[in-house]
Amino acid sequence: MNPSHIVRRKREGEELSATDIRAFLQGYVSGAVEEYQMSAFLMAVFFRGLSAAELAAMVDVMIASGLVADLSAVPGVKVDKHSTGGVGDKVSIVLAPLVASLGVPVPMMSGRGLGHTGGTVDKLESIPGFRTNLSLSEYSAQMAELGCALIAQTEEIVPLDRRLYALRDVTATVESIPLIASSIMSKKIAEGIDALVLDVKLGSGAFMPEPERAAELARTMIGIGAASGKRVVALLTAMDRPLGHAVGNALEIEECVLLLRGEGPADVREVTLALAAEMLVLGGAADDSAAASTLAAAALDDGRALNMMRAIIEAQGGNAMVLDDPAILPQAEARRVLDARRSGTVTRMDVRAIGEAGVDLGAGRRTMDAAVDAAVGFHITVKPGDRIEKGQPIATVHARDGISAEAAGLRVLDAIIIGDGPADPLPLIVQRIDEAALTA
Ligand code: URA
Repeated sequence: MNPSHIVRRKREGEELSATDIRAFLQGYVSGAVEEYQMSAFLMAVFFRGLSAAELAAMVDVMIASGLVADLSAVPGVKVDKHSTGGVGDKVSIVLAPLVASLGVPVPMMSGRGLGHTGGTVDKLESIPGFRTNLSLSEYSAQMAELGCALIAQTEEIVPLDRRLYALRDVTATVESIPLIASSIMSKKIAEGIDALVLDVKLGSGAFMPEPERAAELARTMIGIGAASGKRVVALLTAMDRPLGHAVGNALEIEECVLLLRGEGPADVREVTLALAAEMLVLGGAADDSAAASTLAAAALDDGRALNMMRAIIEAQGGNAMVLDDPAILPQAEARRVLDARRSGTVTRMDVRAIGEAGVDLGAGRRTMDAAVDAAVGFHITVKPGDRIEKGQPIATVHARDGISAEAAGLRVLDAIIIGDGPADPLPLIVQRIDEAALTA
């Protein structure tokens, strides 16, 4: 196999055989294909896409790059959730303990920051001591004991996604339906799920901003799941504004603590409850989504979800005191309050620009081996449709120093568009898609 021939054929739009895909990806695993050749391949896929057969071959190799967890010793239907990525999307960190607290096991393997979006793993690692790199045996033991574990891709489980994910993050090759679908579904199938709920984002901060592309991504992932005998349901949800107020790793953990106490921003709670309802129905804990949503709301309000999160943090070596005193999370040195430049209505938010400003502040990575700064980010209190007055505080920047706070602040102010016209925000939950869409 000559790697550059494969890249050229993909670049020219040729359909590769399963043997070609296997040889190229396995070559990358073994070291015969270099990082620069894989970067070129990813860019070719970005522009040319993958056929269904090529995609199936890619998913198979990704899963086979590591071990597949066997959770058959854990009783119950194992249900996970995965988001296609958003800004301020901290839902997983509340949802996993919430659903597990209601008796449905949640094996959750997440990613780090990707492109302009934050990652659950980076957020969790802002909790002092929290380990996301559990070995397969630690992961399986924790699933058996607690019914929930929050882990990253490891050397043992989908190591190929771990490498491709990190490479895509810094090579502008994220926004591709087959690359997102293979990344998400390989992780989910390898972690040992029975069923999956997908949160597919659309709007200005999503990798697939348009509804048709978001729906196509959802259908692609549902199809991959169905081929492996996994029930998959997708909710298409709004990312035309950041979710909640906090954007940034430790800031988002702080907001999660509020949500786990039954408080916190209403939008994150609503999306969390909608996803929890789907998971609880798939997991057999409720007959319909209304009953499931009531169950989930009660578990957030009466401390069951919070107690489960405490047990998870302790099991994974973290300091569970963050749940009592979030001030022990990393704190930024510089804070800058942003005041509205004019009176009017927030007509639109450029959510991608907010995410990119966060990455440049240090909340995400510009190169593969860069470290993230857990403390930096934004707290943005306005949403599209809000009426505001000139001079009203609308956001706070948390930064390492005054200069970066100033620069990021200007970008955030530019991204919050205040006008006179009406706003037309997306409904929070836009659409539900399940297997029926594959035959429609
Ligand atoms: N989440 C993933 O795990 N992979 C992607 O490509 C996008 C979101």
